[in-house]
Amino acid sequence: MELKTDIFSKFDKEWALLNAGNMDKFNSMTVSWGGLGTLWGKPVATVYVRTSRYTHEFMDNGEYFTLSFFPEDYKKVLGVFGSKSGRDIDKMNYEGLSACPAGESITYKEAVMTLVCKKLYKQQLDSSKMPKEIADTYYSSDAPHDMYIGEVVEIIQ
Ligand SMILES: Cc1cc2nc3c(=O)[nH]c(=O)nc-3n(C[C@H](O)[C@H](O)[C@H](O)COP(=O)(O)O)c2cc1C
Repeated sequence: MELKTDIFSKFDKEWALLNAGNMDKFNSMTVSWGGLGTLWGKPVATVYVRTSRYTHEFMDNGEYFTLSFFPEDYKKVLGVFGSKSGRDIDKMNYEGLSACPAGESITYKEAVMTLVCKKLYKQQLDSSKMPKEIADTYYSSDAPHDMYIGEVVEIIQ
C-alpha cells in the first residue's frame, strides 16, 4: 500500500467525498477537513463530521467509511454534495456518479483514489479545550464535530 500525495492540499484544496453505508443504503458528503497519519502503528485517516449531517448516522451505524478523491472537473458535483443533504436529495443515484462497492462500504467509479477505512475511534471535539475564537466561530450556533479515526485498510487507485 503506497500513497504519494501532498497531504496538506489533499483535503483542503481538492476536497473529497466521505462515504458511509453499503450498496443497499449509503450516504456521501463533501469534506475538506481531515488528515492522514499514523496512530497505534497503523496508517490512519481522520475526518470531522458535524452531528447534524445525515452522513453522521451512517458513520455511527457502520464499521467502515471511505474517502473518495475526484478529478478537478467534479468540483461542481462535490459542491452539491457539500451543500445539499441526502435527507433532501437522492445522493445514491445522483447523475454523473456511479456508486460501486469498496471493501464493506462504497465508492464511485469516477473517483481517482479511494481510501477504505475501518473505524478505530470516535470522539466529540470539546469546545472548552480549543481557542475561544475558534469555538465562537465554529460552534456558537452550529452542531459539534465528531472526530472519526479510521485505519486505512485499502487504497484503490
Ligand atoms: C468544500 C466543503 C467542505 C466541507 N467539509 C465538511 C467537513 O469536513 N465536515 C462536515 O461536517 N461538513 C463539511 N461540509 C458540509 C457538508 O458537506 C454538508 O453539510 C452536506 O450537505 C452534508 O450532507 P448530508 O446531510 O447528506 O450528510 C463541507 C462542505 C463543503 C462545500
